[in-house]
Amino acid sequence: MRVKSYTKNYFDALYEIEKEAFSDFWSEKGMKEELALSQAHYYVAEEDGEILGFAGYWLIIDEAEIMKVAVKKQHRGKGIGDALLKAMIEDSVSLGAKKILLEVREGNTPARKLYEKHGFISYATRENYYQGKENAVLYKKNL
Ligand SMILES: CC(C)(COP(=O)(O)OP(=O)(O)OC[C@H]1O[C@@H](n2cnc3c(N)ncnc32)[C@H](O)[C@@H]1OP(=O)(O)O)[C@@H](O)C(=O)NCCC(=O)NCCS
Repeated sequence: MRVKSYTKNYFDALYEIEKEAFSDFWSEKGMKEELALSQAHYYVAEEDGEILGFAGYWLIIDEAEIMKVAVKKQHRGKGIGDALLKAMIEDSVSLGAKKILLEVREGNTPARKLYEKHGFISYATRENYYQGKENAVLYKKNL
């Protein structure tokens, strides 16, 4: 499995994973706009020509913010999320990031464990942030 930078030819595969992974998935138009932003850095995990996951972050000056990490359901638990997060941390450092931030649903245990494994520390909660129902937990990691 290799982590590579996103290019447009991966869009359809990436968007299938987006729809599978998130109940509040982005629209196709919104996703295309996101991927085209100059501050957005997206990656795909590929094996034997198949896209198994993707992830992306924004870099603004020296602050990175993780936007998404998603792995195809049948390929979870095999280290792909780990590899995508590691790639984002390393690449953001090489581009000058001094810290990296993210927010995640309070109940999303797999994602929270993944971030905590990579040294992210939770520092705040936003009450009822998601559709007025679920809390967001904010994490950061100094690089
Ligand atoms: C979160 C997600 C990206 C993890 O991807 P993955 O490829 O299954 O994760 P990995 O196999 O690389 O596991 C890495 C670490 O994540 C944590 N983790 C992953 N799945 C977990 C689970 N079901 N329960 C608890 N911790 C879990 C563990 O810390 C694990 O490390 P370990 O194996 O040494 O214990 C995946 O579950 C996913 O796509 N979820 C839906 C999308 C989402 O919610 N994304 C995050 C918000 S943007």
